[in-house]
Amino acid sequence: FVHQLADESVGMEELLISPLRLEPDPSLPLPLELFGSERKNSAGLDLTVATMRAPLLAAYQSTPVPPVAEFDAKNAAAALAASASSYQMWSKTPVEQRAAALRATADAMEAQLPYFCALLVKEAFKTWGDAVSEVREAVDFLRYYANEAQRIMAPVAMPGPTGESNELRLIARGPWVCISPWNFPLAIFAGQVAAALVTGNTVLAKPAEQTPAVAAEAVKLFHAAGVPEGALQLLHGPGETVGAALVAAPGVAGVVFTGSTQVAKIINRALAAKDGPIVPLIAETGGINAMVVDSTALPEQVSDAVVQSAFRSAGQRCSALRLLCVHSEIADHVIAMIQGAAQELVAGDPALLATDVGPVIDAEAYQGINGHIQRLKSEAKVLVAPADTAQSASKGIANLIAPHAFEVGSIADMRNEIFGPVLHIVRWNGDPADVIAQINALGYGLTIGIQTRIDSRAQALARAAHVGNVYINRNQIGAVVGVQPFGGEGLSGTGPKAGGPHYLYRFCAEQTITVNT
Ligand code: SER
Repeated sequence: FVHQLADESVGMEELLISPLRLEPDPSLPLPLELFGSERKNSAGLDLTVATMRAPLLAAYQSTPVPPVAEFDAKNAAAALAASASSYQMWSKTPVEQRAAALRATADAMEAQLPYFCALLVKEAFKTWGDAVSEVREAVDFLRYYANEAQRIMAPVAMPGPTGESNELRLIARGPWVCISPWNFPLAIFAGQVAAALVTGNTVLAKPAEQTPAVAAEAVKLFHAAGVPEGALQLLHGPGETVGAALVAAPGVAGVVFTGSTQVAKIINRALAAKDGPIVPLIAETGGINAMVVDSTALPEQVSDAVVQSAFRSAGQRCSALRLLCVHSEIADHVIAMIQGAAQELVAGDPALLATDVGPVIDAEAYQGINGHIQRLKSEAKVLVAPADTAQSASKGIANLIAPHAFEVGSIADMRNEIFGPVLHIVRWNGDPADVIAQINALGYGLTIGIQTRIDSRAQALARAAHVGNVYINRNQIGAVVGVQPFGGEGLSGTGPKAGGPHYLYRFCAEQTITVNT
């Protein structure tokens, strides 16, 4: 299949998305992402890259990246005060109205899909396939949380003794600081903001400093859909100044953060050091995500899953595969297939439809990943190492890193998450439970892939893995809203699952009302 990737009209999106695995239930509002290769939304629009090609390219040509004014960190306390004041009104707005604002935002975003895709390609260097997926995911978050809020926010009568009535209800906490990452600058931004707003909280949104424009454009849609300006403020600037000032400001009722483990710990310490109430933190961080392949696995399926999981989005997904643990009996075969497939991927200009792997986000990221690659070139066995620097220079594309793969000595050699298209491979023999134990010992807990044709083994390994998302006999990226709730444990986060039925509770306090009747 890889030869087709060179065809201008066919991108990785068309080839590397798994076929639809669930039978759609026509009575349920399905996530857009689940329309699989059909990808028709509820209005019958076909949203594939191939059919959207003309509007996508037209939007690309006519879309400048709008400048976004920087917020002065000195004004953090004033922004919190405005948010607290807006909270008085917004928290009393009926949940149906708040949910309607999310749905109107979703409709507007869907209608402007080519525009948001163009912004994602230009500002975040997404490939077109990734950009389309991301807009769909953002729309899914908005609609899913709208439905969920209406499902869970009604007061619940609690059974109790005669002579009294008891009721439990969810209540908004107040102003939330939402700090979102550059790797999903629309979907995770919109997901955090939507979850906080629909539960009646107000939001101070601090997008990643690399990608403020797509966030600012999304905020315009929220405001146009009826979210008051005080209830959602966009505060763009560096994490070290603006993010730190917002977290430290008085009156913060909660912080939701997606980014590195290191920054999550800085935020956690800053919150713990504050006077006043104990402030909850929802953190979704990185992972040293592994895939464990036993000797019964299907090499073609493994190779396809590995190439998608390790190299799609230039490896810049927190779910991405970093460490392939393959049984030595099939290792040579699997490695040869991965080498063949990886070398065929087109790394290049994200604006071209044929590109599978675009550049990494910035020069700092490039230097960190490239330094790691150069170290591995002398310390590990090189399996895939295209002449990326020469390729990058010849195409005039900055910060391009083509897919790389190395065979390393042991699982314990994996120390840090390398957030780019670099796959590490180890061979194993013996008990797969020992492999899982070594992966658990790394301390991260986001995603794991398991490839085996022994069902009982797959289930046992899944239960033994300390991770938030287990993917058996498929790729391990691209969690679908409302279908694969996403988030991890340990060094990978505090546990809440974005796009899952328990997520909104984390943004609320609860109140029990007991009446003597
Ligand atoms: N939600 C994303 C995924 O599942 C995380 O990077 O790939």
